[in-house]
Amino acid sequence: MNFERKIIITGGAGFIGSHVVRRFVNLFPNYKIINLDALTYAGNLENLTDIEASANYFFEKVDITDLEAVREAFKKHDVDSVIHLAAESHVDRSILNPLAFIQTNIVGTVNLLQAAKESWIEITPNHRFYHVSTDEVYGSLGDDGFFIETTPYDPKSPYSASKASSDHIVRAYGHTFKLPVVLSNCSNNYGPNQFPEKLIPLFISNIVNNKALPVYGRGSNVRDWLYVEDHAKAIDEIFHNGVLQETYNIGGENEWSNIDLIKSLCKIMDSKLNHSVGSSEKLISYVTDRAGHDFRYAIDCTKIKKELGWKPDTDFESGLEKTIDWYLSNQEWVNNILSGAYEHYYEEQYGNR
Ligand code: NAD
Ligand code: DAU
Repeated sequence: MNFERKIIITGGAGFIGSHVVRRFVNLFPNYKIINLDALTYAGNLENLTDIEASANYFFEKVDITDLEAVREAFKKHDVDSVIHLAAESHVDRSILNPLAFIQTNIVGTVNLLQAAKESWIEITPNHRFYHVSTDEVYGSLGDDGFFIETTPYDPKSPYSASKASSDHIVRAYGHTFKLPVVLSNCSNNYGPNQFPEKLIPLFISNIVNNKALPVYGRGSNVRDWLYVEDHAKAIDEIFHNGVLQETYNIGGENEWSNIDLIKSLCKIMDSKLNHSVGSSEKLISYVTDRAGHDFRYAIDCTKIKKELGWKPDTDFESGLEKTIDWYLSNQEWVNNILSGAYEHYYEEQYGNR
């Protein structure tokens, strides 16, 4: 089949990547979608069983830290675009083991850029390297203000510093080698298929299993939450219509302190599980704060709204309910994860708190 575009989506077996892959496979049957993923602990092909038989879907098990393997994938599929999501993505793990973040997030990104530079000899309008990044590169806000695209970088954790480095390298390849790059920096995502080490799925799973809910510090830190399918829609918009060399901030305009969010989650869980009112809240346990914990993230997403006409479709109330329903009806997905290596991580992360 003659595909109009041949796109590598890295990290397609992960949380956000699987939603992006599904959207592109379903909406664009004339695009060849190559999911390139190393299947680390966070990668799970079960996330994609509904589209894996599609004629325009391909999977390559490749570690992006392996430059030769990345080059091979570019050749094999005659790739003209990249949407790069593969990363080590969990802040707590970056505190336990920073080196993996440097390898995947920095070296892995350079490898993809280098393979693109080597194989895209003459740049056409189809060529595009889209780097998906995080609002954490801007550092931590106080009670006021928002991150805009020109906010100076000030990353504070090994995770955010590795993502910030990768953003700079992407821009350097764009500037120096005229590689057609575009970037976005997004706030906290939530929704189905998120690995249950992150706040919302971890707490849903712990309530189901009647385990303590480990709230870092006083629970006063603030995050701006966006439903994952709205992020996938923004990625689609930026991939197709974003201006080359530009950066777009994506956010939910939906700020919650952790403790308020957790209490709302507890209320919904009580009602879904037919537990008496207040029983989930009793599981809250205040534990030692995350080292270097960023206080507040908040995105000003005026640019993408004005220039590309994007806006989120899902409000937080219905998004949270959809998310909880998904986890409750996919307990096997969760149980498959909550064993072996994850148990070891859980003990290391929470054992002495
Ligand atoms: P995730 O941890 O759920 O998935 C990461 C995926 O990358 C997994 O499928 C994993 O197997 C793959 N991967 C990891 N190392 C790899 C390697 N060396 N080679 C190939 N594949 C590898 O992550 P996520 O939460 O879906 O985040 C995806 C991207 O979006 C990341 O770049 C992250 O920085 C960014 N982001 C995430 C959020 C969020 O709230 N989750 C918000 C903004 C930006
Ligand atoms: O802002 C975008 C970022 O959001 C992404 O780049 C990251 O990949 C993603 O993991 C997320 O980072 P956070 O550190 O904000 O997400 P996390 O779900 O780990 O934590 C959310 C908040 O909840 C944070 O303030 C820490 C707190 N927390 C988290 C866990 C796991 C707890 O209080 N207890 C916990 O057990």
